[in-house]
Amino acid sequence: MKRNKIVAGNWKMNLDFDEAQMLIEDLENLLDEKQPSCEVIICPPFPYLELATDEAAEHELFEVGAQNVSAFDSGAYTGEVSAKMLDSIGVSCCIIGHSERRKYFNEDNATLAQKVNQALKYEIVPIFCVGEVLEEREKGIHFDVIRKQVEEGLFHLDAGDFENVVIAYEPVWAIGTGKTATPAQAQEVHAFIRGLVKEKYGEDLANQLHILYGGSCNAKNATELFAQPDVDGGLIGGASLKAEDFASICEQASN
Ligand code: PGA
Repeated sequence: MKRNKIVAGNWKMNLDFDEAQMLIEDLENLLDEKQPSCEVIICPPFPYLELATDEAAEHELFEVGAQNVSAFDSGAYTGEVSAKMLDSIGVSCCIIGHSERRKYFNEDNATLAQKVNQALKYEIVPIFCVGEVLEEREKGIHFDVIRKQVEEGLFHLDAGDFENVVIAYEPVWAIGTGKTATPAQAQEVHAFIRGLVKEKYGEDLANQLHILYGGSCNAKNATELFAQPDVDGGLIGGASLKAEDFASICEQASN
């Protein structure tokens, strides 16, 4: 089965408002020119989401995702942003469980499962991140780590909800380090994740699932990574802050 590719840009905590505006504008010009056939998503910080969704509605060149969402529905949770709020400004997806959230904000799989539920309740597609740290890979336990993350974060969902989930494999040792997983390493883990999903939800859902690769994916290595049969696109950090590079990655995902 042929899955269309998805390229999502994770801006993380970067850029001021003017810079964000400029990046969106540059990106629009490039995407308009290149017309990539993949699905393009940008995930700016919260204060720029509405700017991004307004632009998305006007030009239809990309969709907009958030980088995080509250595990709670509404109420006295100072500083939190709910899935309902995101939905109300046209955000259509949300990164959940990025390794930086797991590490610096102590987000565990149980919390992440609640965030997934909140997103799905408001028809926001969770881009659920999994991945091992270097020590776990060196010990050879990365498959166990990933299995646990997938099972505890997602496998409480029924098939109807799981259908709307995207998974991103991001080996933590490859994020922001310039050390990309080799295409073979990425493929091995992506195939493993698809296998887990097949066991739990059956072949159709497994075949339909998008699994993105993230971790130093850039304009130079994207083609090779995206050529792997189970790599359905990328979650791009650093390279998503440069319009030319990000547009090039989108183009490479369009074959
Ligand atoms: P990177 O980040 O592309 O800068 O390695 C990817 C991510 O953390 O989503």
